[in-house]
Amino acid sequence: MSHSSSMSNNILRTNDTGNVELNGKVAVVTGASRGIGEAIAAALAAEGCRLVLAARSADRLQEVADELRVRHGVEVLVVPTDMGEERQSRDLIEAAAGHFGTVDILVNNAGMGIFGSMDELHLDDLRLVFSVNFFGPMAALQAAVPIMRRNGGGTIVNVSSIVGKFAQPLGGGYTATKFALQGASEAARAELKRDNIDVVLVCPGLTDTEFSQHSRISVPGAEHRQGERHSLGRGVEPERVGRRTVRAIRKREREAYVTLFDRALVWFAIHFPGLLQWVLVYVTRYRRRRFEEVGSSKQ
Ligand SMILES: NC(=O)c1ccc[n+]([C@@H]2O[C@H](COP(=O)([O-])OP(=O)(O)OC[C@H]3O[C@@H](n4cnc5c(N)ncnc54)[C@H](OP(=O)(O)O)[C@@H]3O)[C@@H](O)[C@H]2O)c1
Repeated sequence: MSHSSSMSNNILRTNDTGNVELNGKVAVVTGASRGIGEAIAAALAAEGCRLVLAARSADRLQEVADELRVRHGVEVLVVPTDMGEERQSRDLIEAAAGHFGTVDILVNNAGMGIFGSMDELHLDDLRLVFSVNFFGPMAALQAAVPIMRRNGGGTIVNVSSIVGKFAQPLGGGYTATKFALQGASEAARAELKRDNIDVVLVCPGLTDTEFSQHSRISVPGAEHRQGERHSLGRGVEPERVGRRTVRAIRKREREAYVTLFDRALVWFAIHFPGLLQWVLVYVTRYRRRRFEEVGSSKQ
């Protein structure tokens, strides 16, 4: 692509304040059947984006799509997709471009957790979580970039977590997937700058969704605890994460935090690694007890 065509598209992509213009843009959102992904899709629809919704639950996706069409009058395509299957992640982007002619925004939000200590995690469970949280998003990114490049730009949002910034004891497998996503996002951001493609890393803290119920418990003998709620609290409403994500896209932010508390926690972790390690030992003890309580209350 010539420099001049990239320049002219750049002007079309942003308004006179330098913000990304969202009205009419085509956005693919993965994990849109509930939780944070549903909220991001709703926030994008409120800005007038045309949407492509992906997740495995086709019926639930249709319900979300119907609601967004009625409430915001936007066009919505539903593409049932397992993001753990690389081919399906690529096919999703092709289906989106085939239907709408382009992809302007890709939100890699679909994800799942895994709980268990690093010395006991089943590696097959860890591979599964990496395939959904890391390899699926990477396949979608690779499929979307050539389309965005042809268009003169675009935005890729990778939904990480504050525990993509520091370790989560007994959640180290999940943390590892988000660290990987952070590394890939930073490299891609630098590489894609010349193509006018923004890469935004969204780092929510605890959010009130069904995340923990759908996380994998990977501890020998504790598989019966799969699917329970065992988070440390309720967290913020997913709608707040949705609105924050849209602001980050519009303002072309590098990283986005949802609350001041999350930002402060990450600042502390980065600036006081020794103290952090000490705190994590106490968090490990607390979480072990919580896991045991949840496990015994189930028996
Ligand atoms: N909740 C939190 O406290 C929190 C905090 C920080 C970051 N996050 C991140 O935010 C993202 C969304 O999490 P959430 O809290 O909204 O969790 P959630 O309520 O469990 O929603 C997860 C979404 O991902 C989809 N999904 C899961 N596995 C999939 C797969 N193999 N293929 C396609 N879609 C899949 C689910 O749909 P189907 O089941 O229909 O496929 C669902 O739409 C995740 O990346 C998570 O790591 C969450």
